[in-house]
Amino acid sequence: MTNVLATNISFTINGTPRTLSLAPWVSLLDALREHLDLTGTKKGCDHGQCGACTVLCDGKRTLSCLTLAVMKNGSNITTIEGVGQPGRLHALQQAFIDHDAFQCGYCTPGQICSAIGMLQEGRAQTREEVKELMSGNLCRCGANNYIIDAIMEVKDQPR
Ligand code: FES
Ligand code: FES
Repeated sequence: MTNVLATNISFTINGTPRTLSLAPWVSLLDALREHLDLTGTKKGCDHGQCGACTVLCDGKRTLSCLTLAVMKNGSNITTIEGVGQPGRLHALQQAFIDHDAFQCGYCTPGQICSAIGMLQEGRAQTREEVKELMSGNLCRCGANNYIIDAIMEVKDQPR
C-alpha cells in the first residue's frame, strides 16, 4: 500500500548519496536496517538506553533509534560499514581485536562508532573520563574493561 505521507529524504551514507521515500515516523535505525540493508547497526533496546544503534551524523555520535530519519535530511551519516573494511580496518577495529574487546559482538558496532565520535569530541583525557563518556554504550557480555583498553590505545596513538 502506498503511504501518502511518505516524503523523500536524502542523505549521504558512508560516502554514497541515497534518497529514500519514508513515512515521517520511521527512525533512522529502521531506515538503515530495513530500507538500506545496513544491518551492522544493531537494534538493542530501541529506547535510547543501550547504545547498540549508535552511528555518526555529521561526525557526532547519535542514537539512531531515537532519531527520525526525516530529521537527518541532508546529513552525512557513517555507519560501521563505512568505518573500515576487511584488509583496511579502522585503528579502533584493530584495537578491539587486539584487546579481546568483544565476545558476541552485538554491541561492537555501536561501541566503535561511539568511540570514534567521543575521540573527535576531544573531551576525554583519562581512562576514567573515557569510561564515563562511553557509559551510554552497554555490553551485556561484560567486555567493558577491554573496550576501554582498546579505546585508550587508539586515543594515545598519534593521529
Ligand atoms: S537500540 Fe538505540 S539505544 Fe538501544
Ligand atoms: S560483546 Fe556481546 S554485548 Fe558486547
